[in-house]
Amino acid sequence: MTQNFATLAEIPTCPRNAEGNPRVFVSASGAYVTDDAGKRWIDFDNTRGSVLLGHGDPEVAEAVGRAATGALGTATGWSPLLDTVTSRLLELCGGEVVGLFRTGTSAVRAAVLAVREAVGAPLVLSSGYHGYDPMWYPAKAPFEPNADGIVDFFFDLDVLAGLLRDGRERVAAVVVSPDHMHLSPRWYERARALLAEAAVPLIVDEVKVGLRYGPGLSTAGLLDADVWVTAKGVANGFPTAAVGGSRTLLKPLREVSYTSFFEPTVLAAAERTLARVATGEPQRTVRETGDLFVEHARSALAAASLPLEVAGNGTFFQFVPATREVKKAFYKATEEEGLLFYRNDNQAVSAAFGPDVLDDARARFSRVCDRLAPFAAAGPVGEEARYQAAWSVMDGLREAERDARETREWVDRFLDD
Ligand SMILES: Cc1ncc(COP(=O)(O)O)c(C=O)c1O
Repeated sequence: MTQNFATLAEIPTCPRNAEGNPRVFVSASGAYVTDDAGKRWIDFDNTRGSVLLGHGDPEVAEAVGRAATGALGTATGWSPLLDTVTSRLLELCGGEVVGLFRTGTSAVRAAVLAVREAVGAPLVLSSGYHGYDPMWYPAKAPFEPNADGIVDFFFDLDVLAGLLRDGRERVAAVVVSPDHMHLSPRWYERARALLAEAAVPLIVDEVKVGLRYGPGLSTAGLLDADVWVTAKGVANGFPTAAVGGSRTLLKPLREVSYTSFFEPTVLAAAERTLARVATGEPQRTVRETGDLFVEHARSALAAASLPLEVAGNGTFFQFVPATREVKKAFYKATEEEGLLFYRNDNQAVSAAFGPDVLDDARARFSRVCDRLAPFAAAGPVGEEARYQAAWSVMDGLREAERDARETREWVDRFLDD
């Protein structure tokens, strides 16, 4: 099969082989995807964590199929599906109003620009990945505003406290992408206190984590968000993102419209996915099955004395290899065994991981450990490897004791990489 690299302007994120060429998949069902050579992989990438129910989920497929025939409305105008989707989102995530977008990037951008306009101050303090938009490009120097007035504090709460102390009146909002693998509830407790003291609006970018840890925002009870954004948990991989929260702060969203707004197949996918997500059932299955896999992975790695840790839990987890060599050998071995992991990033099982899939995944992972025998006792996993893993998944610093000099050194190091 030929791949036309010459005409595609983008280099999209997707599973690739050792040469960096995209892998080609010809079908997907439940927890498995099949490539163009007929190899069946167990999918832990799941569209970067947005396929929560499993590939080709029958209920979603049936609704999308019906919508495609025109039976559920038309992209020409308003449909009952739209009202159901917006009210479900508000029930699950809270807020007075909700806006719909196609991608997490466009939704976060719109939310941040809306809040900045509503507040009328120039700077936004940010931590975490918020999409590919140039507005998130790094500043010339760390902890300074970039060309779009974004100041990254890289999840360091001492840096955030300093920025709020020295320039509060110029700050319109703080935007954070929560992580639950490298930040503990203590981090959120302190962040919440700092934001309350400064009385600055908070936007939580829950594009990735929202609705996946449970039927609502993952930071409900941890942070007091004024505006939220969620996407990956909304429509089982169909292109939907949502912004919700304060009517006053989101007033500038009234200007937003686009031609495909009412597209019924996407709304049907969101409607069916949200109905399931609202029960908490798929998230429970994901957590329980994921936990069993993680437990197996940790004990298989330990039994083989391999220098790799597993951060997180069954909802989202990440491999933390001790060195670059271990990392390279690990992903090579997993690929040979047909485990499709999201390289360097978070792994996400879907609710389609039944007991048979779990057995299959465990057996494949044990064989991965056998293949890595030459790396036995090559450890241990050190602080640098843990910082590196956290940076790969959250574009910032893991929660750990450190002083201002160390913070700057870690940031300089990873920005240079
Ligand atoms: C926290 C967060 N925000 C924003 C985005 C961008 O979303 P999208 O890729 O749908 O544009 C992502 C994507 O991974 C994300 O994880």
